[in-house]
Amino acid sequence: LDIQVSSTGGNATSGYQYGIMFEDINQSGDGGIYAELIRNRAFQGDSVFPSTVEPWTPVGDATLSLQNLSQPLSSALPTSLRVTASSGTVGISNPGYWGIDVKEQNYSGSFWVSGNYKGSFTASLYNYLSNETLGTVQVLSNDTASGWVEYTYTLVPDSAADNVNNTLRITYDASQTSGSLDFNLISLFPPTYNNRPNGLRVDLMEALGGLNPSFLRFPGGNNLEGEDPPYYLKWNETIGPLKDRPGYPGTWTYENTNGLGLVEYLHWCDDLNMEPVLAVWAGFYLDGPVISEADLQPYIDDALNELEFIMGDTSTTYGALRASLGYPDPWTIRYVEIGNEDNLSNGGSSYEAYRYQAFKDAINEKYPDILVMASTAAYNFTETENAGEDYHQYTRPDYFVGQFNFFDNHTEGFKTMIGEYAAVQPNIPEGGGVNWSDPKWMFPEWIGTVSEAVFLIGAERNADKIFGAAYAPTLQNLNSYQWSPDLISYTADPDEDVLSTSYHMIQLFSSHRITNTLPIDSPAFGPAYYVAGYSNTTDSYLLKTAVYNATEAVNATVTFAGVSEGATGTLTVLTAPDPESYNSVGSDVVVKTESSVTAGSGGVFQLDLPDLSVSLLEVTA
Ligand code: AHR
Repeated sequence: LDIQVSSTGGNATSGYQYGIMFEDINQSGDGGIYAELIRNRAFQGDSVFPSTVEPWTPVGDATLSLQNLSQPLSSALPTSLRVTASSGTVGISNPGYWGIDVKEQNYSGSFWVSGNYKGSFTASLYNYLSNETLGTVQVLSNDTASGWVEYTYTLVPDSAADNVNNTLRITYDASQTSGSLDFNLISLFPPTYNNRPNGLRVDLMEALGGLNPSFLRFPGGNNLEGEDPPYYLKWNETIGPLKDRPGYPGTWTYENTNGLGLVEYLHWCDDLNMEPVLAVWAGFYLDGPVISEADLQPYIDDALNELEFIMGDTSTTYGALRASLGYPDPWTIRYVEIGNEDNLSNGGSSYEAYRYQAFKDAINEKYPDILVMASTAAYNFTETENAGEDYHQYTRPDYFVGQFNFFDNHTEGFKTMIGEYAAVQPNIPEGGGVNWSDPKWMFPEWIGTVSEAVFLIGAERNADKIFGAAYAPTLQNLNSYQWSPDLISYTADPDEDVLSTSYHMIQLFSSHRITNTLPIDSPAFGPAYYVAGYSNTTDSYLLKTAVYNATEAVNATVTFAGVSEGATGTLTVLTAPDPESYNSVGSDVVVKTESSVTAGSGGVFQLDLPDLSVSLLEVTA
């Protein structure tokens, strides 16, 4: 294989090539990146997922019941937990999201109580395997006979637990009450990323940061859409104090707390230096009901209100609301997606086609610079100015490799975001794409990862058309999930984080960004697939290669125009023991080799690239 890279030509890349897709699936928000440790902290529920006491259990001789008091904590949180007991030390216990990681660090706790109590509460972290109290703090009661009182505390365990079989307990002396106390919004946070209040889990943020992501697509995915009326993800129910955030019956079988809300997403973008790609609800429920054209305007207005909340100055209604919540400085939104997989047009001909255009027109009238994406790759754009599409692909490895040229013939003029992609099932003799009734992989497998690399290289080669790509889903709590494979899996124990094989491939590609692609003379693709370019951040030439289905190692000679004999570079090669190899808790199969390479006569680099390898050659310009 002879790869001759020109020094001119090609296209500038978007600058966003690799990003993150996020929706609350697999307990990826609640029980995932949102650092709240207490599961069912506020007894949120609705007609889809009724409020429940689970997983709370009583401590001591007490009974627990749900109450809808005439004076609830708030209209958003109408249900609370009653602890009934007349004597002894009693209280409530919560095991977290399938465990609580206890270290010698500050835990920020809070809870609300209604009822008459003279005494103090004890908040403690307790290991139920060893019956050991790991840390405890007294919280004095304010002895209010009526009304809700918030208590806050800092708990610093005396010792770390060596497992996550821990609970938070809040106890008190029942003899000092009039028989019962009502609790709500019982929260506990460990230190969060950048120490943000109501913030995000440190290990998962560090893992995501390791991908060098440039954009965050949020908040869905299906989870944006809602299954049926009246439930869809409403941005204005995810802002402000936690007591003012009702839950939302997410589309992935569990109630969302809305603790991870619009401002938290924007902080997430700030903290990892990512461009927000904001998805707004498009008038389409997952189960099919569609808001008619005649009834759509309030939802368009709502999207404009959301944008004003994010971007407006304090003279605007929603900008002022944002400031009143403690965020005087606006954020900037440059990319908005209308819905998720809404098949907005069914090819441009159906009655649904009005929705994308109606949102786009209204958004661009007020914000002419925002690029508005259709949440389908089937939309027939009538104008390409500030227009984009979101292409999703879940498939099998061979199919992905077959998509290497997909973007070569793509319509030009608008940007394509690959908002979700993943190899999810093994190849089958008859070929073809995903079959949703077949089982999906538990974790990304190496052959799938290499096929994704081929697909991404195909996308990188079409830099003028592609906004960027995000694997999906991103996060998976191994104790409760609806979808596999996922990019990063985890439990309550940060030592059990699984960075998948695809994580390593994306990390390699994302951390070495081509800023301008460079043409290759007479390329011959298969079994090696490659893209070349120049990075103006490192002043180097880059060649990304994936080898798929080779009968032997590919021997490649590579030249970069203007690079002469003696020039040096680094070759990084990722491989794995078997096509079916995957990463799981405690095991990482990806083998990464880095070697120095020197150009021989004629400036030629000699590369030996094994089958099922993903590699990067970086040569200083
Ligand atoms: O990533 C999982 C789901 O796949 C997303 O919610 C949806 O957009 C897609 O169908």
